[in-house]
Amino acid sequence: MKTRMTVRIILLLLAVAVAATATMVDAAVTLPHDAALDQGYDRTLDPDQGFARAPRTVYRRTFARPDAEGRFSIRFDGVHLESSVSLNGRWIGGFHTGYLPFEVPLEALAPTNTVEVEVSAPQGNARWYQGCGILRDVWLVRRNGWTLEPEAVAVTTELNADGSAVVRVRAEGATVVSPANGEFLVREPRLWTPETPFLQELEVVAKNAAGESDSLKVRYGIRTVEFTKDRGLLLNGRPYRIKGICQHETFGALGAAFSLAATKRELRTLKDLGVNAIRTVHNPFSPRFYELCDELGFLVKDEAFDEWRIQHTANGYHRFFDACWTNDLQTFVHRDRNHPCVIIWSVGNEIPDHATGAEGGVLTRAMVDVVRALDRTRPVAAGICRPAPAFTNGVMSALDVVGLNYNANWFEKLRGWKPVFGSETAPSLAERDTYLFEEKNGRMVPVQSVGHRECAYSPKAFGWAAPAEAALKVQIDAPWSAGEFVWCTYDYLGEPNHTGRNKTQYWPARSSYWGLCDLAGFPKDRYYLYRSRWNETSPTVHLLPDWTHPGLEGKVFPVWCYTNAQEAELFLNGRSQGVRRFADTQDLHLNWNVAYEPGILEVRAKMPDGTTVIDRKVTAGPVAGYVVKKDFESDGLVFFRIDAVDSAGNRVIGCEDEVRVNVLNGILMATDNGDATDHTRFASPVRRLFRGSLLAVIRRTSSDSFPQVNVTRTGFRENRLLSR
Ligand code: GAL
Repeated sequence: MKTRMTVRIILLLLAVAVAATATMVDAAVTLPHDAALDQGYDRTLDPDQGFARAPRTVYRRTFARPDAEGRFSIRFDGVHLESSVSLNGRWIGGFHTGYLPFEVPLEALAPTNTVEVEVSAPQGNARWYQGCGILRDVWLVRRNGWTLEPEAVAVTTELNADGSAVVRVRAEGATVVSPANGEFLVREPRLWTPETPFLQELEVVAKNAAGESDSLKVRYGIRTVEFTKDRGLLLNGRPYRIKGICQHETFGALGAAFSLAATKRELRTLKDLGVNAIRTVHNPFSPRFYELCDELGFLVKDEAFDEWRIQHTANGYHRFFDACWTNDLQTFVHRDRNHPCVIIWSVGNEIPDHATGAEGGVLTRAMVDVVRALDRTRPVAAGICRPAPAFTNGVMSALDVVGLNYNANWFEKLRGWKPVFGSETAPSLAERDTYLFEEKNGRMVPVQSVGHRECAYSPKAFGWAAPAEAALKVQIDAPWSAGEFVWCTYDYLGEPNHTGRNKTQYWPARSSYWGLCDLAGFPKDRYYLYRSRWNETSPTVHLLPDWTHPGLEGKVFPVWCYTNAQEAELFLNGRSQGVRRFADTQDLHLNWNVAYEPGILEVRAKMPDGTTVIDRKVTAGPVAGYVVKKDFESDGLVFFRIDAVDSAGNRVIGCEDEVRVNVLNGILMATDNGDATDHTRFASPVRRLFRGSLLAVIRRTSSDSFPQVNVTRTGFRENRLLSR
């Protein structure tokens, strides 16, 4: 008989953030919520965390005792960073990390109850901006009688030689009653892959030693994963190349509180890019992220830690490591193991302990054992940035698969010894539509940086890492590698490293320059390099640079085209500048040197199916207005892209007008322009365009009337595009 009564309902959609300092005020907030967003920047604070203030915050919610039998508790999917929870003034629990769930029992509920959650995130708790607050969903859980917990159930799948599949179900501390004997055969399985993300649902019934039974539904996908030494990853027994990307779970102008709409927007972008795998840097993400990856089809490298016993940052995880790592790792695997999207467990990223003596290896082995006790169907890896010590001290031998962060020369060294992949590759510092040149004898030569600006060609090579094109070639030349995870999708708040500067010189930059897209989510040129190599279903033809360079007539510019065509011809004002073929170059872009004259620069690329695909850059005139276009919409949020245009509708990337975003039928949540040095509050309707563009995020207030956005100019600022 079924007695299970575990119910999870979202409890706290609304709460009050109670003033914790004299300068704060009580405010009604919607959860999830990031209390550090828009609190201003202070140059004395941690540069890695984007100079952001993270105020200690108390959330309060009053609720009536639920009108139902049972034992109640509150489950937090993630509160960053250190939390303390009280019920009616009495302490009932707390947690030390925002990346994992925790539950606190609600005993002795009164007719009316007040729960308070106090959260603090000390400076230096991560190497990037992670915000502060109840960053993920909160649930009221009701249990009645013995309950089969979702985390106790493990569904695994295996393929037989005849193509049929076996689905096995285990329940920790219980006996599975249905499916009978804990397994069943699927004769003609529809296999889960990123391209065909077929999901199934199964009702699992189990009983405990006392004979009480309970049931729950589990969603799963049928697929197998094997990492080999010679053929890379085998997905469902077939070689499958990882075209992966690294991503932090923060949402630019929307802060670090989980946003379903922003996550979906990002996954939309990644599908367009041709990405098939995501690495959750450097921590477990929100539960909804994995559900979306199951549904939309992304492989996930699920990462547990960025720090072990030896500190990366002053207030990092090392403070809790010895006391908590075993439990935390178990919670992580329990939480995520039924997601078909998860194909690798990563126990750490660039862990300083990996570069120590034997203790690095001992700890790694201990972690691998903890993971294996709960899941043997996926390999355990780590992102290793110092391969030499990790090769000799037992770290690499303890792992099932070696993830190399950069260090491209190690692919050859590890060949045939262990399965290997690029866990982090190809960093480059670049900004959207930013073309910086130095003139040398009439030629315009790209330079990496000028002040706080970074060039879209990203000409600088880092000593520690192969540049993007070289890193792509490393993977082509190393078929035994499972593929790579590029650093990284979007720029993010924090880590504002830029060329030739150390941390004390980052200010006023408060966000990173590493992304293929800027902080607003708009693609940089480098995006199209990857799209041309990874998106196999639609043509890519992308020209750079911009073609508005007044005063530089006759100077010779490098014109690049990223394309998946084999050849392309370039025209300037209708005159051919020649055909370029990949057969004649080692580069992964086509290249012309073109003397500047205003007009139309057009590339015509011949696609394998015989069609011609064109991209154009047109010399822009003065700004005549702003074009507002919907970029994405989901779950009540609409993302608009605003571009300055001339009278012919050409983008004017030199425009840095300050504008006001006016909204009808909606609430403006944030604006952003992707400029790492812009300190205007994200909530502000007034902001400067950067490189001619702006993002506005609007919350819909009605399902009938779509938000109307118009843009008015409030100020003018001239921008010089060229550095020298
Ligand atoms: C890596 C690190 C990332 C990020 C990146 C910047 O070494 O794993 O978290 O810091 O460098 O290039």
